Amino acid sequence: MCGIVGYVGPRPVRDVVIEGLSRLEYRGYDSAGIASVEDGAIHVEKAVGRLSNLVDRLSDEGAFSGHIGIGHTRWATHGRPSDDNAHPHRDCRGRFAIVHNGIVENYLQLREDLLAKGHRFTSETDTEVVAHLMEELDTGDLFTTMMAVARQIRGAYALVAMSAEDPNTLVALRKSSPLVVGLGTGENFVASDIPAILEYTRDVYVLDDGQMAVVTRDGVQCFTLEGQPVAKDVLHVAWDPVAAERGGYDHFMLKEIHEQPKAIRDTLSGRISPDGTRVVLDELGWSTEFIQSIDRIHIVACGTSWHAGLVGKAVMERFAQIPVNVEVASEYRYSHPLQTDHTLVVVITQSGETADTLAALRDSKARGRRVLAITNVIGSSAAREADAVLLTLAGPEIAVASTKAYTTQLVALYLLGLYLAQVRGTVDDQTLQEVLSALVSLPQAAEQVLDAAPRIEQFALDYQDARDCFFIGRGLDYALSLEGALKLKEISYIHAEAYAAGELKHGTLALITEGVPVIALATQTHLYEKTLSNIKEVKARDAFVLGLTFAGDDELQKSVDEVIYLPQTMPVVAPIVTVIPLQLLAYYAAVVRGNDVDKPRNLAKSVTVE
Ligand code: M6R
Repeated sequence: MCGIVGYVGPRPVRDVVIEGLSRLEYRGYDSAGIASVEDGAIHVEKAVGRLSNLVDRLSDEGAFSGHIGIGHTRWATHGRPSDDNAHPHRDCRGRFAIVHNGIVENYLQLREDLLAKGHRFTSETDTEVVAHLMEELDTGDLFTTMMAVARQIRGAYALVAMSAEDPNTLVALRKSSPLVVGLGTGENFVASDIPAILEYTRDVYVLDDGQMAVVTRDGVQCFTLEGQPVAKDVLHVAWDPVAAERGGYDHFMLKEIHEQPKAIRDTLSGRISPDGTRVVLDELGWSTEFIQSIDRIHIVACGTSWHAGLVGKAVMERFAQIPVNVEVASEYRYSHPLQTDHTLVVVITQSGETADTLAALRDSKARGRRVLAITNVIGSSAAREADAVLLTLAGPEIAVASTKAYTTQLVALYLLGLYLAQVRGTVDDQTLQEVLSALVSLPQAAEQVLDAAPRIEQFALDYQDARDCFFIGRGLDYALSLEGALKLKEISYIHAEAYAAGELKHGTLALITEGVPVIALATQTHLYEKTLSNIKEVKARDAFVLGLTFAGDDELQKSVDEVIYLPQTMPVVAPIVTVIPLQLLAYYAAVVRGNDVDKPRNLAKSVTVE
């Protein structure tokens, strides 16, 4: 959470910083700020709220036209959103400026010490102590000053610091919060995430935990936080800058929903043999012996990625016959999980930077477990720290609400489950081929299901004033119901709950009254009749039921008020297409209610704090 940009080079700093922050606003949008060094002084402008508020304040064309600067977009942790709490923060003399992503855990103690030494604070943030520490520990050289600061602060941080005394240098530090350095010609960049600098360069250094960089126009030098030089490999990012644009869509979320057929295709590409008979996951580098030895799998993730894990469990248990636990990362890390010596830990994270998921990854590695990361971001912490990586090829996902990342996570999990089954000999050739062929047909099915958008939009319009909404289903449809409910809550702010359809009558049925919308998923053929009975139970209480089933099913329409038909596919892979109408429903519900679809209140895309 929080987005950071730094720039040093010939362009006006305002252009690069504001443009970069606009690409990072998904990381937080409680306030925004910019600082630059001009004429030997540090200038700062900040504004509570969206980046556009800051832009409005920069009405003077000439402001921030210098050539070195930093910027920040905030997701508030310590101190409510306000101008004062917005970054950048300065020391008492205004000679240093700092932007920060993370939490300085010992800030209270540091603050007390600094107050006792006469420092005056202007914000409630943990970050401001860093600026005052810089003043206190100033060595006359920004690099060594920041090393001294790093020795004093505990917690998680990505920091970029600037000094009025050295208008050519930025110093960036990383500990547990992401930071990349973009490499240009005669200019260099720092950012929390690659999309912020994609327009200028695709070559980056990804700082590792415990590293810092000294960034000038002419070069970048990397060190440990203790000052030892480190050699970095350049990561060339394949993402096309256009992929991070809205491309004519009203919102990133809608664009990303529509990108799913391609994202599914890309994630499958090269991972199924040309004759469609085998899964090819040599990229994992696993031996047959290792795969045979796995005796349980722990899938660990948060939010939508956790929901993907629930589908993954069903697939792996069914095909690879390995017991799977799916755990919420924030719980897992403190739960003394029962791992055997042969437990495989699979972390799922779109961003590769979610703090709790990374903690689970690190704890598991420390216990000697093998960890596989399913992630969308090459160069992310999860990708770099896991023993093996299965990349989802969704391209940059900008909207806070996850869509194409989810469907590609499902694709990766299907491939993984089938691969394990193939190597362990727990799936017969015919079944394997059938499922692989069903997977290959999914991009086309996803195209078709997008055609249902106008009907879903109408439903969202009709139910725009709904206070509650329920999602029900059995088996894989239940896992999807959880995702449908999360999506609706997250962006439309309608209260939504998901229930295993058979569970409603154990309490929640009391909430079903006349006209309450219920989204009933009925794609799992072997559970169809049972689900139908549960649908009748809610219909008998006068709920308004929108059903989802496959084309060709004439039965469901007799029991519900409206039906969305999905293209025929094998039920076991159906989640990849069934989720699309649910995403569209959340999207249109948010649009008709006038919400900021891509930046829902209180949230940020990349949750880099616990
Ligand atoms: O980057 P991650 O996949 O680790 O993020 C996990 C969750 O924060 C994320 O999926 C969140 O639930 C989405 N915003 C939901 O749409």
